[in-house]
Amino acid sequence: MTTYGSGHGRSSRIEGFYRLSWTERLAHLAERAGLEHSDLDALRAPSPLAFEAADHMIENAVGVVGLPLGIGLNFLINGRERLVPMAIEEPSVIAAASSAARLIRDAGGFFAEADAPLMIAQIQLVDVPDVEAASQRVLAATPQLLAAANAVHPNMLRRGGGARRIDVRYLPDTPCGAMLIVHLVVDVGDAMGANAVNSMAEALSPTVEELTHGQARLRILSNLADERRARARVRLPFRVLDSEGFPGADVAHRMMQAWAFAMADPYRAATHNKGIMNGIDAVAIATGQDWRGIEAGAHAFAARAGRYTPLSQWVVENDALVGTIELPLAVGIVGGNLECNARATLALRLLDVTSARDLAAVMAAVGLGQNFAALRALVTDGIQRGHMALHARGLAIAAGAPDELVESIVEQMIASGEIKLNKAREILASIRAAA
Ligand code: HMG
Repeated sequence: MTTYGSGHGRSSRIEGFYRLSWTERLAHLAERAGLEHSDLDALRAPSPLAFEAADHMIENAVGVVGLPLGIGLNFLINGRERLVPMAIEEPSVIAAASSAARLIRDAGGFFAEADAPLMIAQIQLVDVPDVEAASQRVLAATPQLLAAANAVHPNMLRRGGGARRIDVRYLPDTPCGAMLIVHLVVDVGDAMGANAVNSMAEALSPTVEELTHGQARLRILSNLADERRARARVRLPFRVLDSEGFPGADVAHRMMQAWAFAMADPYRAATHNKGIMNGIDAVAIATGQDWRGIEAGAHAFAARAGRYTPLSQWVVENDALVGTIELPLAVGIVGGNLECNARATLALRLLDVTSARDLAAVMAAVGLGQNFAALRALVTDGIQRGHMALHARGLAIAAGAPDELVESIVEQMIASGEIKLNKAREILASIRAAA
């Protein structure tokens, strides 16, 4: 039986992986990640999810939607080699992540970490007669409230997690008047934790109503999981940034200007962060995470100071470009949804994650690398050269080109400067007419 969790020493650097056939790629992956035959069969299966499983996962199921699964290569994170599963429909994202990681590994790789997995559940209270006294009574009852929350999930407590803290927040001026909000902060361990904290909040609300003499309304987690942040950092000496026609120092300063633009302008910050989420969402989808929750948390965090800002920072320090990223990442490696999603559990094994914190740290690094690739392209050749060249492949296939004609159609489209479906059809028709 092959054992996992021994990713150390298995390099994530596989040169020219993208030029290999599917079978060859799978063989490399099997060797690097120690996959079983059954894992390879699962990757080759026509549908990643049997309809019967899908029917249990959602309501009114009528089918299953497919999404390409690729591997982000070259990632060196905290000195560990990581093969990064990424599920995404957009061309060039995985190439860009791999290209960034290749360059960053030459400078020592990514340094990444994540906070303890603390989730917040909120209990909304309205019609509280004396807010000050109510707040004090709730805070004074913290030990009983935590014990009651833990009684809902004794296994979580046994595994070292559990309810940690009660906070009280006063919202004096909502469109419906004043409200008191009680936060229950819970260490959810390796779970994403939504269901656990929601049930704890529901269990506590009658007691909280008694303590506040108010009425409980919503009892639900907050997706602004800002007690559960992940961060990553890279330091890139100018020499590793040298690229054709652009000395490294110039690239570094241009990247800092790109970040400054995003700092000053929410129109740019939204696109900057979209580039980051290209990578984070792709890992989230591959590993079966609640990517809507991650997105909501990331953007709320980006706007926490009252203005929407970039999630990453790029600054020149002495003779190097230093990139950092920080964002909330509520992710899990155990839990109900994952158990019925075999492809997601395979992705987690490929990534060789040891905990939810480890997964969050890797995702922060991927987000930073993805951002690096996009900015580097934007401040040098422009995005279209790399992105559109890869987009052209999709258009050639959509135009009906057989495998053997795809490359030739792509080359002709790029040479014409027109990367459009109609152009792909036109080129295909002319090749067929000449044959
Ligand atoms: P390049 O420097 O020409 O690549 O980049 P290279 O040929 O030097 O290869 C370097 C490595 O990149 C390779 O290593 C591969 O790992 C990888 P090797 O295997 O040779 O040892 N690589 C590829 N992997 C898979 N398939 C490929 C491939 N090519 C290279 N075909 C690249 C070419 C496209 C990577 C580069 O131009 C790039 O990074 N462009 C940026 C693309 C991008 O960011 N796309 C995201 C979508 S655009 C967007 O939505 C976000 C945005 O709006 C965000 C923002 O505004 O901030 C832009």
